[in-house]
Formats: sequence, C-alpha cells, structure tokens
Amino acid sequence: MEWKSGYSVGEDRLDNDHKIIIDLINRFDYAHSVEVEGNLVGYVLDQLIEYTKFHFQREEEYMHKIGYPFLELRDHQASHERLEKRLDELYEIFHGGKTDIAGDISEFLGNWLRGHILETDMKYKTHADYAAGDADADADADADAPAREEAD
Ligand SMILES: [Fe+2]
Repeated sequence: MEWKSGYSVGEDRLDNDHKIIIDLINRFDYAHSVEVEGNLVGYVLDQLIEYTKFHFQREEEYMHKIGYPFLELRDHQASHERLEKRLDELYEIFHGGKTDIAGDISEFLGNWLRGHILETDMKYKTHADYAAGDADADADADADAPAREEAD
C-alpha cells in the first residue's frame, strides 16, 4: 500500500501519521512474508496498534481545534472506537497463538484505512477548507452544487 497525494487531509502532521501507519502495515506484510515464528510480526502489530490509537487522539484534537461540528465529530470518534475495539480483538487472537490471521489483518487494515481517509477524514478537510475561507476551491470541486446568487 502506498500513500498518494489524493489521501491528503490538508494537515501535515495528520498526513504524516497516515504515511507512518501505511508504512507499518507494509512492514507488517513484510514481516509476515519472511517470518516463520511470528515474533517480529507480533512486534510490528503492537506498534501498528499503538500508533493508530495515538493518531486517532491527535486527529480528534485537531477536529476540536478547527471547530468541527459536534455530531460529525461524534460519528468520527465512533468510527475510531469501533476500529480500536476490532484491533484489540485481533491483538488477542494473534497473541493467543493464531498467527496465521496476519494476512487477514493486513488486508482488513489496508482497506479500512483507505476507506476511512477517503470518506470520513475528508469531511473534516472540507470543513477546514471552508473555515479557512477557501470557498472558491470548494466551489470548483463541487460543480454540481446550485450556483450561488450574486450579491448584486
Ligand atoms: Fe479518522
């Protein structure tokens, strides 16, 4: 999996977090492909889970900072919480000895992250763009929207 400019949420630190998470998913894949015993795979999985939780906190703080609407923020947080719960379950299963789920974990996480960035994270980018007075750029991107009435 590779980070693309189309994944940018408009905030460097959050983009960097996403790049780090993608990098950890790739390391996890690599460890899984070369390791027989599973120790390294488990180590990378722990880092992946820890960093993802750290990132969610940072992202939620950012949404507060930009005045993201409460209901949207609550839905976004719920999405993070669901993934954290799922990660904890996968952690238990993996460290419980079922290390052959590594491939499934990797595929699941890659798909989740891609979908989450493009659908859920992009909503706060749109909000931040508006807040920054970047309405022109948004109007260009949103060509189907009804035309705004001119002031005069
Ligand atoms: Fe998010």
